[in-house]
Amino acid sequence: MSPFELTRTLPEDATGAALRADVLHGLTATPKTLPPKWFYDARGSELFEEITRLPEYYPTRAEREILRDRAADVAAATGARTLVELGSGSSDKTRHLLDALTGLHSYVPVDVSESALRGAADALLAERPRLHVHALVADFTARLALPKTPGPRVVAFLGGTIGNLLPAERAVFLRAVRAMLDPGDAFVLGTDLVKDESVLVRAYDDAAGVTAEFNKNVLAVLARELGADVDPADFDHVALWDRRAEWIEMRLRARSALTVKIPELGLAVPFEEGEELRTEVSAKFRREGVRAELAAAGLTLAHWWTDAEGRFALSLATVAG
Ligand code: SAH
Ligand code: TRP
Repeated sequence: MSPFELTRTLPEDATGAALRADVLHGLTATPKTLPPKWFYDARGSELFEEITRLPEYYPTRAEREILRDRAADVAAATGARTLVELGSGSSDKTRHLLDALTGLHSYVPVDVSESALRGAADALLAERPRLHVHALVADFTARLALPKTPGPRVVAFLGGTIGNLLPAERAVFLRAVRAMLDPGDAFVLGTDLVKDESVLVRAYDDAAGVTAEFNKNVLAVLARELGADVDPADFDHVALWDRRAEWIEMRLRARSALTVKIPELGLAVPFEEGEELRTEVSAKFRREGVRAELAAAGLTLAHWWTDAEGRFALSLATVAG
C-alpha cells in the first residue's frame, strides 16, 4: 500500500443531487433550515480553521490541552494500530494521538471536505513518511466502507462535532459507530460542556465576525453550486443559547423582505423581514448525558477527561460486553 490513498465514497457531484434535495426540502420547510455539512467547501474549511484560532473560540484549545495530557492514557488503554477519525478537518490536534500511539499502522481520516483531507495528509506525511494515511471523502452519517487495516481500532470524533447532530441523529450515529467496532476497539469522543451563557454565545458570535462569515458562506455555496440569486450581505448572523435544549443555535436573519430565487430548482423562496433560516445547532453536554447516550448505543464510558477549567471533555468508550 502506498503511504497515501484517497478514496471517494461521495459522488464527484456530491454538491449536486444531495445538495439539491437538502435545499429543496430545507427552504420549503417551516421554519426554514439547511443541514450543516454544506458549510464545508474549501472556503468554509478555511474559515473554520480561522475560527479555531479566535480568542473567543475556546473549544479547540481546551480539547488540545486534554489530548496533550491524555494521549498517553488513550494509547495505554487501546494499543491502537488503526486510528479512524470522523470529521477530521485539518487533523491538527490529532497529532497528539498519532505521536502517542507508538504501534500505529494506519490513520484513516474521514471528511466531506476533500481540500481539508489533502491539506492534512500533505502535512502529516511530510513529518511521518511511513504512516499509512488512507483518506476517505465521505459523509460520516452514511454507511462507511472502512479500508482493511490492522486492529485494534480506535474511532475518534473530535471538536465537539457530535453536537452539530440533533439528538435523534446522534442516536443513529452512535449505533453506527458501535457497529464499526470489534470487542477490544474503542471510541474517543470530544464534547463541549454546558457553561455560562455569555461564554458560549461569544464563541459563536466573535468580535471579528469570522463566525458570521462562516455562517453566511453556506449562502455562497448555494449561489455557486445552484446558481441561487442570493446576497449574503442581505442576512445577519444570529447565535443564541437555547437553555432547554442546551444548544447554541445558529441562524441567518433576513435584513429585509426578500426572495431567494433558485431557477435550477424552480424555487422562489420568500423571506419576511426578520425571518430566520436555521443553519446549525451546537449542543453542549454533561457527563451523565454522554454516558447515557453512549450506553444506549452499546458503548461503555470508561474514561472522562476534562481540561483544567472544565470547559470541554474527552470520553473514551469501549464496546459493552
Ligand atoms: N475535527 C476537527 C474539525 C471539526 S469541524 C477539529 O476538531 O478541529 C467539523 C469537520 O467535520 C469539518 O472538517 C467538516 O468538513 C466535517 N464534516 C461536517 N459534516 C460532515 C459529514 N456529514 N461527514 C463528514 N465530514 C463532515
Ligand atoms: N463543531 C463546531 C462547533 O459546534 C462547528 C462550528 C464552530 C460552527 N463554529 C461554528 C458551525 C459556527 C457553524 C457555525 O463548535
